[in-house]
Amino acid sequence: MKEEILVLGGGVIGLATAFSLSRRGFEVTVLEKKACGGQASGAAAGMLAPFSEISEDPDPFFAFCLESLRMFKRWQQDIKDASGIDFEYTESGSIHAVYHESDILSLESRIDWQKEFGSEAEIIDGARLESLEPNLSDEVVAAIHSNEESHVFAPDYVKALKIACENNGVTIIENTGTVLIESWRSAPVLKTSNGQTYTGDRLVICSGAWAQELEDVFEIRLPVFPIRGQICAYELGQENVNHIVTTSQGYLVPKSNGTLVNGASEDIAGFATDVTKKGIERLVNWNKRILPFLKTKTPFHTWAGLRPATQDGFPLLGPLDDSPHIIFATGHYRNGILLSARTGEAVADIISDNPLDSPTQAAFHPERFM
Ligand code: FAD
Ligand code: GLY
Repeated sequence: MKEEILVLGGGVIGLATAFSLSRRGFEVTVLEKKACGGQASGAAAGMLAPFSEISEDPDPFFAFCLESLRMFKRWQQDIKDASGIDFEYTESGSIHAVYHESDILSLESRIDWQKEFGSEAEIIDGARLESLEPNLSDEVVAAIHSNEESHVFAPDYVKALKIACENNGVTIIENTGTVLIESWRSAPVLKTSNGQTYTGDRLVICSGAWAQELEDVFEIRLPVFPIRGQICAYELGQENVNHIVTTSQGYLVPKSNGTLVNGASEDIAGFATDVTKKGIERLVNWNKRILPFLKTKTPFHTWAGLRPATQDGFPLLGPLDDSPHIIFATGHYRNGILLSARTGEAVADIISDNPLDSPTQAAFHPERFM
């Protein structure tokens, strides 16, 4: 008989997990409090950009992100094939711009360690930089140009994932209210707010920024915190932006629908998802120094989402030691869209008795904060 897997949470991580499990023949049920993709996942800029986002030394998290980036071309095609939805996936490459000569040193050290991971990124300036990104500010003195980074239109990607899951036979139940875990030491039993119960052989926790609510249930520390990201979008009009453009102060991502997505703040505001004047003004003021044509433009849309941050910056990914039928997959902070491919496959591997390699397993162990 097929094993039955319950997935708690219908964000990108829960849906990617369900997709990977379903194509390996497991029976999967996803339980989502509200609407799938309605939280962090639908709010994301959709960058698949580990070289731009992780500037410090390499660690298991960077390696995991890079594996996911390199899986994505195939992964997104699999989801398009399974869903019949042609969401945006653009291999735009990226420009990481700096404003001071002294910052070029840090670009050089970043490039040096990233080369060891096969990056072909290079530092560019002058005419080369201008030809690649003509609308970039003259204040920019140099940039890293990476060909490898790409992006998806996150809301459409998540919608496609949901349909791909359904087409693969996954049962998706939305608007469940907060699902409670009634028992888990043997076969897990979950209860929705209207009293419906669901039983499975295994449970995968993909509850994003809400994972800490489960500390009392599992009697372990789960230091996952919501970090609000405020973000906005412009209509592009005649102006061209060719790459993902990042600076120390924010990023701009040109989408194929003619919009330019611009993020994002990192605020501690509990579970509030409202947008503040201060949060968006900071982005808008900085944009003038990145793409000066934005001086005359105002964002037509603003929104916010809650990134699931962990105490040490690494996700919680893997089974509980004494209850290996309970698997965590949460805490992907700024990179959950990027990590969806690798995470989905990792959970399906774990459930298929193919665990993560030992260093990664130790770094992401859900019980490491005990
Ligand atoms: P979520 O999408 O939040 O999903 C968790 C789900 O679990 C929610 O839908 C919630 O309702 C449900 N849930 C929780 N508890 C329960 C319960 N008890 N019962 C039932 N349901 C429950 N990442 C990138 O890779 N690239 C980017 O460019 C990028 N940009 C971002 C920009 C912004 C502004 C933000 C906010 C985030 C961005 N991220 C980006 C990060 C990315 O969005 C997150 O890492 C990712 O969405 C996390 O996915 P998730 O499924 O864990 O969480
Ligand atoms: N990864 C972009 C963000 O979290 O804002």
